[in-house]
Amino acid sequence: MSLKDAALKVRENAHAPYSNFKVGAAVLSGSGVVYSGCNVENVAYPEGTCAEAGAIAAMVAAGETELTEVYVVASSPRPVPPCGGCRQKLAEFGKADVVVTLATVDGHETTTTIGDLLPGAFDASFM
Ligand code: THU
Repeated sequence: MSLKDAALKVRENAHAPYSNFKVGAAVLSGSGVVYSGCNVENVAYPEGTCAEAGAIAAMVAAGETELTEVYVVASSPRPVPPCGGCRQKLAEFGKADVVVTLATVDGHETTTTIGDLLPGAFDASFM
């Protein structure tokens, strides 16, 4: 399944009763497997998790730690960029040149990279 189809499909399972804003994300791993995740909200609002975090968690749980492409989709007027925390999470597992496609459910897409989303990222080289 393509990253786009996986992200659209998993988005339908999002648990977003508080924001009513469903998000789907899919990542392509170094071995070529597609992992997907959706946002999972909680009545204790800060406990909610983003779609990107879910997709990354699925990849890591399967034993992989490298992502090579990312796709994020939501129903919004224009493609939704990942939040700050998710940019850091993506940078943990993807190189700066990894392409991130942001999309709306009606097919508008924009592409960027992990490096452009998080310039000046903190990484292990500073430690
Ligand atoms: N959300 C994501 O899952 N990913 C994004 O890139 C942007 C925001 C979720 C978090 C929350 O459940 C809802 O969208 C509204 O912020």
